[in-house]
Amino acid sequence: MESHHIDSLDFHTARALLQWQVELGATEACLDAPVNRYETPKVAPKPAAAATGAAEPPPVQPKTDPVEVAKAAAAAAKTLEDLRAAMAAYDHCDLKRGARNLVFSDGNPAARVMLIGEAPGRDEDREGKPFVGRAGHLLDRMFGAIDMARAAPISAQSIYITNVMPWRPPQNRDPEAEEIAMLKPFLERHVEIVAPEVIVLMGNIACQAVLGRRGITKMRGIWHEAFGKPVLPMVHPAYLLRQPQAKRDAWADLLSLQAKLRDLA
Ligand code: URA
Repeated sequence: MESHHIDSLDFHTARALLQWQVELGATEACLDAPVNRYETPKVAPKPAAAATGAAEPPPVQPKTDPVEVAKAAAAAAKTLEDLRAAMAAYDHCDLKRGARNLVFSDGNPAARVMLIGEAPGRDEDREGKPFVGRAGHLLDRMFGAIDMARAAPISAQSIYITNVMPWRPPQNRDPEAEEIAMLKPFLERHVEIVAPEVIVLMGNIACQAVLGRRGITKMRGIWHEAFGKPVLPMVHPAYLLRQPQAKRDAWADLLSLQAKLRDLA
């Protein structure tokens, strides 16, 4: 089988190539040129620890649970900067290895409204900020229509944005259930620290992570509760770019959000 220059491949491409070879039936990892193992120098066996007087190696630790690690790291974060650092230091999610940047958040942390999107795409991965691509521009226009903006200094007019996943999945695939589960403690802590009055869930992945189910076309526009707060699912702006006729529903949802903020004020 043809060999590839693995050094120049990113993690996800290298893994996809390996998976592809396994699907083709490869069962052995071997080199292009055969190696005569009878001619390779023998490696002397390591002397037993007791014989050398060296300390016994430590017992094998049980495997760590990525969700428990995330919970402990998230709980220790007191501020948004702590939380960002804890997420940057979290090494249990493979998506991190293929991503250029951690995409943490954007907007005003004092905002009354917190938006939760799905995961960074290519543009967000490059810039390290959520919703900066085409879907992000539409999102800004949508919220601009009800006089809200991420950059607004006044909490009543501003929004704060984050995503379920802080790292871009390869080829923008949906995050897997285990990936969502291990990042959820960080999301929960994020909501606790920002303490918004209302949360908007953008699309199915956000609904899955926060409400435990999908079905955005049925759930949109209906107020739910999560994190002890009112939560409004809306269709994702990327969906609106493909299905502009759904903008009418999105407009109704924005008006519902505006009415809820008025009621709570
Ligand atoms: N889609 C999302 O859900 N989040 C982003 O940050 C960008 C696109």
